[in-house]
Amino acid sequence: MITVGIAGTGFYLPERVLRNADLEKMVDTSDEWIVSRTGIRERRIASDREATSDLAISAAREALRDGSIDPEEIDLIIVCTSTPDMLFPATACIVQEAIGAKKAGAFDLEACCTGFVYGLSVGSQFIKAGTYKTVLVIGADIFSRIIDWTDRNTCILFADGAGAAVLKPAKDEKVILATQLGSDGSLANLIAQPAGGSRQPATYKTIDKRLHYLKMDGRRVFRVAVEIADRATRDVLEECSLSTEDIDCLILHQANARILEAIARRLELPGSKVFINLDRYGNASAASIAIALAEVAREGQLKKGSIVVIIGFGSGMTWASCVIKW
Ligand code: UT7
Repeated sequence: MITVGIAGTGFYLPERVLRNADLEKMVDTSDEWIVSRTGIRERRIASDREATSDLAISAAREALRDGSIDPEEIDLIIVCTSTPDMLFPATACIVQEAIGAKKAGAFDLEACCTGFVYGLSVGSQFIKAGTYKTVLVIGADIFSRIIDWTDRNTCILFADGAGAAVLKPAKDEKVILATQLGSDGSLANLIAQPAGGSRQPATYKTIDKRLHYLKMDGRRVFRVAVEIADRATRDVLEECSLSTEDIDCLILHQANARILEAIARRLELPGSKVFINLDRYGNASAASIAIALAEVAREGQLKKGSIVVIIGFGSGMTWASCVIKW
């Protein structure tokens, strides 16, 4: 089987910064509560002119530039999102046209906050099998459009952004050693956007009941996320015959600093090995890990051969893991 490598990464963040002080004027909250309970200080919010594809296109262009890759080389585009421009056509098709990827297939993948790690796994399979040589995976979301800005439990957490990675047969760096996927649909009600699909199509009633906004049982998600990430990390490392001591950098879904700390404690990892950017960007759903991966690559602090473990978790519940040898 062909080994898969990450040939380029990029990200895009909308310009508008929403600080905790701004949220204090919108709901009954405080900077002190948000920082101490979540670690978030500010987040980016898309402008009215921007849709998810706009963010995805900018991130994709940067990843292509980073890897010196011609858009016509791309065989497949996977856009991981749960806030597509429209229900159909796929946002991936809008990206395909905009970046000039004339020879690419394109589809969207929906695994909410876990989406990008699912995308890395799905994209890798085409390269491993020898079907394709270049796969563009994008995580992009505009959660500000589905957030209830009157609900202090959720509106302080989520954010907008996009990140992208180009997968190619590996040279001798940034090699994907393993990916694993998981789900537990019995927990489907923990994070959901109840209306707007076939179960509850848009009606005046669903709008009046605010059912088009994200609903979340934060406390239960917190507990489940810590359990899942602990187990997922150990399972994927075992597949690579590695242990938690081999981890040089752990990239977790940027949901809450307390979740990240709890996971690091369980894995007995020093905080310095756990990547964090949620203080600046909040929880950007499928973009969260994609942006983090691109930032880790930009920082250039990892040595060749370093072990990077990526763990996503989110609505579904879904989870996914990936080990990269830098
Ligand atoms: O990407 C998807 C994955 N999602 C997540 O990972 C979310 C996971 N969950 C969390 O991050 C946390 O559970 C939250 C940040 C959502 C909430 O933090 P918490 O420490 O679990 O707080 P809580 O829900 O237990 O609420 C504690 C108190 C409540 O007041 P009472 O009932 O004790 O009087 C809440 O009403 O804090 C109150 N509260 C707030 N107070 C000020 C909830 N939100 C706020 C707020 N400002 N924004």
